[in-house]
Amino acid sequence: MTEIDQNRLHGRNILLIIGGGIAAYKSLDLIRRLRERGATVRVVMTRAAQEFITPLSAGAVAGGHAYVDLFDSRTEFDIGHIRLARDTDLVVVAPATADLMAKMAGGHADDLASTVLLATDKPTLIAPAMNPRMWSNAATRRNLAQLIADGVAIVGPNAGEMAELGEAGAGRMAEPLEIVAAVEARLAARHETIGPLSGRRVLVTAGPTHEPIDPVRYIANRSSGKQGFAIARAAAAAGAGVTLVAGPVALADPSGVTVIRVEGAREMLAEVERALPVDVAVFAAAVADWRVAEPGAQKLKKGASGTPKLALVENPDILATVAQHKSKRPRLVIGFAAETEHVIENARAKLDRKGCDWIVANDVSPATGIMGGERNSVHLITPDGVESWPNDAKQNVADMLVARIAATLAATEK
Ligand code: CTP
Repeated sequence: MTEIDQNRLHGRNILLIIGGGIAAYKSLDLIRRLRERGATVRVVMTRAAQEFITPLSAGAVAGGHAYVDLFDSRTEFDIGHIRLARDTDLVVVAPATADLMAKMAGGHADDLASTVLLATDKPTLIAPAMNPRMWSNAATRRNLAQLIADGVAIVGPNAGEMAELGEAGAGRMAEPLEIVAAVEARLAARHETIGPLSGRRVLVTAGPTHEPIDPVRYIANRSSGKQGFAIARAAAAAGAGVTLVAGPVALADPSGVTVIRVEGAREMLAEVERALPVDVAVFAAAVADWRVAEPGAQKLKKGASGTPKLALVENPDILATVAQHKSKRPRLVIGFAAETEHVIENARAKLDRKGCDWIVANDVSPATGIMGGERNSVHLITPDGVESWPNDAKQNVADMLVARIAATLAATEK
């Protein structure tokens, strides 16, 4: 047996949509095959798919939860259908039934699967599976032609015996390993930059976090996310595979970067841990230090009980958690220090306290205009000393930091 390359799909996020056909049982094997190559798989199932396999079994094989309903509050709370559609490198539809293909070709959105397919801007691969007569029907031919014209990739179907006795012809879903090969080819076909960070995985956090007080109010800070987004962009331009975990910011996804949008610190930590292992992690987010212990389930009202007192609890420290990770500590862990006084002393203390390798320190006193602004003045603090970089555009600061990261990784490998 050939050995499985466990890293072939490392760090890749695949959204698998399972349609309702007898071939759905093969999708469980497909999930297993994708995961054993290092991919993270999220699963959406149509209602018809649940006649063949249960969400429980698909979720268990995927190591998560199978999403089934557009109006399921749990799905929306966990992730939301727009993020399901976007936080992925590739959408795979297997089995793609005649009905799902028709919905895709027609742009329908009347359940979670079709809505996600309409909302996604990611490459899509379908593995059709249906009765040979349905496959050769003029309507399916038309839909297939439309999907191909829309840039959807197809694997299979194969010819052979069908589940129904006596039926044979083209219509069998491609085998899981054939689908895996098509997934790899589709991902490899995407433009991959060759640069000093080619083959490296970089994780970046950016932006503020929002910590709810009640359903309409939250605690936040003035971070714009610009510096973190610039670092993610620079790392991708240098050829790295980049995951950017971003708090609520009004910035577009940098191209070639997997962007995962979160709200609160705990959610940010969970997504950061899911993105590990990586070679380099850069923590540019301004994570709220505290959250409200018990956010109100309803909007807090003025009234007889007087001014509400907010009891706060400390948030997990994401940077310290990753820097002190037993098994998955990245080779280079870089923190930021936002200070309003004693910038270098405080930043040095942070480096020791949190256990990271470098700290990028900046003075965020209002007078500097750094928070939310386009430019930054930073001090790079490493165990070897402090470098104060000239005031520059945030993208230039990011490019310099990424160049330094690439040089350091290369030097420590010699
Ligand atoms: N950080 C984090 N998780 C937290 C708090 C901070 O990952 N809960 C990270 C930030 O992304 C940054 C670094 O820690 O890289 C320092 O953040 P900063 O806000 O400057 O430091 P704090 O730990 O909050 O310390 P203090 O508030 O005492 O300055």
